[in-house]
Amino acid sequence: MKNIWICILGGMLMVFASCKDKTDTPGTVQEEATKPAVYQEAYRPQYHFTPAEKWMNDPNGLVYNEGLYHLFYQYYPGDIVWGPMHWGHAVSKDLVFWEHRPIALFPDNNGYIFSGSAVVDIDNTSGLGTDGQTPLVAIFTYHDSNKEKAGGTDYQTQGIAYSTDNGEIWVKYPGNPVLPNKDGIKDFRDPKVFWHEGSQNWILVLVAGDHARFYRSPNLLEWEYMSEFGRDKGAHGGVWECPDLFPLKVEGSGEEKWVLIISINPGAPNGGSGTQYFIGNFNGSEFTSRQKDTRWLDWGTDNYAGVTYNNVPDDARIFIGWMSNWAYANETPTEKWRSAMTVPRKLSLRQFGDTISLVNYPLESLATILKPEGAKSIEIAPGDPEIIPNADYNQSEVRFNTVSRDFTLTFSNDREEELVLTVDGKGKEVLLNRSASGKTDFQEDFGKEVIRMPIPNLPEGTVEVRLLLDASSVEVFINGGQYVMTAQLFPNAPYTTLKVENTGTDPLELDGFEISAAESIW
Ligand code: FRU
Repeated sequence: MKNIWICILGGMLMVFASCKDKTDTPGTVQEEATKPAVYQEAYRPQYHFTPAEKWMNDPNGLVYNEGLYHLFYQYYPGDIVWGPMHWGHAVSKDLVFWEHRPIALFPDNNGYIFSGSAVVDIDNTSGLGTDGQTPLVAIFTYHDSNKEKAGGTDYQTQGIAYSTDNGEIWVKYPGNPVLPNKDGIKDFRDPKVFWHEGSQNWILVLVAGDHARFYRSPNLLEWEYMSEFGRDKGAHGGVWECPDLFPLKVEGSGEEKWVLIISINPGAPNGGSGTQYFIGNFNGSEFTSRQKDTRWLDWGTDNYAGVTYNNVPDDARIFIGWMSNWAYANETPTEKWRSAMTVPRKLSLRQFGDTISLVNYPLESLATILKPEGAKSIEIAPGDPEIIPNADYNQSEVRFNTVSRDFTLTFSNDREEELVLTVDGKGKEVLLNRSASGKTDFQEDFGKEVIRMPIPNLPEGTVEVRLLLDASSVEVFINGGQYVMTAQLFPNAPYTTLKVENTGTDPLELDGFEISAAESIW
């Protein structure tokens, strides 16, 4: 009866989740997604993925199969702080609208279910598909907290589970763990698996404390160690986590490079956790890179543990990150749920002068929910700021093109809360100040430091500045995703004013300045 009423009410309110599926599906279903009840709490993002309730961290098992993009994620259904990890689950047809599904993986005798990936085993190499069905196979880390408490060091191992109904029902493989922790490495986790055409093998990359390790398998069940990378490369201010490895063509050339993504906690440039990347080569057994500098995929404080989709049509590389930071993730001021994902972003390699950079930029499909107001040109003289009112910047996109490198954007509300983005041409950096952006006192360091992003390779000439604001986050994309910063913020009322200041000496021209209201996906 309850479900019928929820369905009727849900239909009237254009609830997104399918009621029918929910009554038929075994397992725990998150609370029905009725908008007034669930999706209008303070700070609730309207177009970024959040769980209906409780704790979420890393995206897991990103895989496309039979018309559905799966998003599994680290989930604790018992509280809004981190706890015994499950894999929560949602699906999307377009990576814009999401439907919550029942929890996919529960802890078992081998431990909690930590981060990992999923593949479509098209040729049924694992033999886990029956009656001609293609299995989806999830490869994840088991974290045995009892072993950990007893002082062991081999408490993280790799296990698998499979589904033959496109991700609804999951069965753990009876031979788990498939990759034991023979060397007793304390941090031995977050396997990313993909099919490598060249060597006709499954490749698994995981992290082992301060480096990545590579394994191969013909069948996803037996794994052979091949090589390691990174003990003396990149940033090492904290433990390495959540690796990803994939090839990408350099735009405008046929050249292919391999990209290794490594999250690190702590040790990010603006404190706490962050994501670095290496560009190099992978020959089927070894990853090598001549990169000397440390590169960051996102300079903001809140894009962590991001990885990319397997099996996407036309080889697009689509990335989703967890929009939080371990420095304060457990303390952010939401009550019903905790944390959101970034918008899905397309990754590409682009040449800037002598440097090839990993660019990340929102998918075109985001336009489905953006309602552009109409573009205009604005000229702003030094010392004469432009004030641009708008009903709700906190659910919007703001974008423009400019040749200037000297300006400040200040979003504010009637509570005198403000978020300040400064482009400093002389200092060659972009600064994001959230110190007075809203609620900041839930943790002593939140908002204390200005978030800084050096822009040494930003080309001369016109660049695009694009901002996505959504209740409790801002994503800043400079020059089509060459430089990106993502940050959480907790304003207590929507920002309704944008002040644009010209801090240079020449007139500031903003071309194609456009505000788009973003519709809710829920
Ligand atoms: C990254 C991480 C992973 C781990 C998971 C546990 O945020 O620490 O290394 O698998 O979260 O929830």
